Amino acid sequence: MYNYRQITDNLYNVGANDRRITMFENAHPVPRGMSYNSYLLLDEKTVLLDGVDNAIIEQFWQNLSAVLNGRHLDYLVINHIEHDHCQPIPELLRRYPGLTIVGNKKTFTMFEQFYEIDLEGHILEVQEGDTLRTGKHNLTFFMAPMMHWPEVMVTYDTTSKILFCADAFGTFGATDGRMYADQYKFDEEYLPEVRRYYASIIGKYGRNVNNLFDKLANLEISMFCTLHGPIWRKDLHLILDKYRQWASYIPEERGVVIAYGTIYGNTALVAEILANKLADGGVENVRVYDVTSTHPSYILSDCFRYDRLVFASATFNAELFPYMETLLLDLKAHNLTNRTVALIENGSWAISSGKKMREILEQMKGLTILEPTLSFKSSPKAVDMEALDQLAKTLLAA
Ligand SMILES: Cc1cc2nc3c(=O)[nH]c(=O)nc-3n(C[C@H](O)[C@H](O)[C@H](O)COP(=O)(O)O)c2cc1C
Ligand SMILES: [Fe+2]
Ligand SMILES: [Fe+2]
Repeated sequence: MYNYRQITDNLYNVGANDRRITMFENAHPVPRGMSYNSYLLLDEKTVLLDGVDNAIIEQFWQNLSAVLNGRHLDYLVINHIEHDHCQPIPELLRRYPGLTIVGNKKTFTMFEQFYEIDLEGHILEVQEGDTLRTGKHNLTFFMAPMMHWPEVMVTYDTTSKILFCADAFGTFGATDGRMYADQYKFDEEYLPEVRRYYASIIGKYGRNVNNLFDKLANLEISMFCTLHGPIWRKDLHLILDKYRQWASYIPEERGVVIAYGTIYGNTALVAEILANKLADGGVENVRVYDVTSTHPSYILSDCFRYDRLVFASATFNAELFPYMETLLLDLKAHNLTNRTVALIENGSWAISSGKKMREILEQMKGLTILEPTLSFKSSPKAVDMEALDQLAKTLLAA
């Protein structure tokens, strides 16, 4: 049975939700599932803008056939050739033999890497600013390199003013019947996962995000048709403002993230004591994480949100506690900058976790690392309390 959604008089979402998935891209936990949107425009020509993941492929076929209602599919626009949007392509070519695939040079280079399919006679290669007339609608293409992948482009419908924005403005989590972002409470229901998605998927490429926004600045946009999660039709500035901030690595709020890696619990205790001191000192946003029990994507997301970060780690075979290393490498991989960082190290015979954390953090640009590293042996004692008090004061003043 079909289960498509109508957006305008001739635009439909033929995608669906997957609530069985546990890890998106086998890397990011998605406890509330994932949605894959795919847009079908019924103009004089019929146009599908991006496909879906195999997980929901049966629902996609039902939706596509129902909306096409016997019509042929004329165009497939590939804004992004990653798997979660492209799995129906071989079957689309079989079902709709006259199908023309619209993409840019890089799209087709990647197509050849993924598929052994001869596209002779099926290709419309577009460049920056090219327009495809489909009847009443004109689709203009803008390259959006590294809005996840290098071949990404976005498609602007000059008739409806809708921007089909590929992975931009997407989010983790299935949609709950509510198809539009304004149907969700922005701060509570929407923001936490859209932030984690941004940080995890696009966070590394802030400069590219800003470049794309500069390019689109003069367009009047009525909707962001996203590939994951709700569509934006109102107050687009809400998500745009967040993206601008994240893309420039500007913290959203004052607050301290404390992430600790512990074996027996002593480093955890020091982190808890510091959290108490900070809260008592007036810090409203203190977030404490055990790096073993919290997936790095959640901590990364809070590191994009807040301005001060504390990393506390026990020494482990002359190295960092492994989950702490994973977290720090993840932060580095996402180009996080403009943060104040404090370090706490612990060990019982040859303490090296502070040095190891510093080695990773010093490779990142724009971090202010507070001195000195707070160092303690095995378990915190009364003498360590003075150093903790001092650290709390420094963090409060930072
Ligand atoms: C597998 C393993 C390796 C360790 N390697 C080191 C080490 O190389 N140098 C060191 O000083 N302590 C080492 N330790 C000891 C812990 O770092 C030390 O006991 C620390 O105080 C534990 O802090 P925690 O209570 O937060 O887990 C190691 C402990 C374990 C279990
Ligand atoms: Fe993607
Ligand atoms: Fe995607």
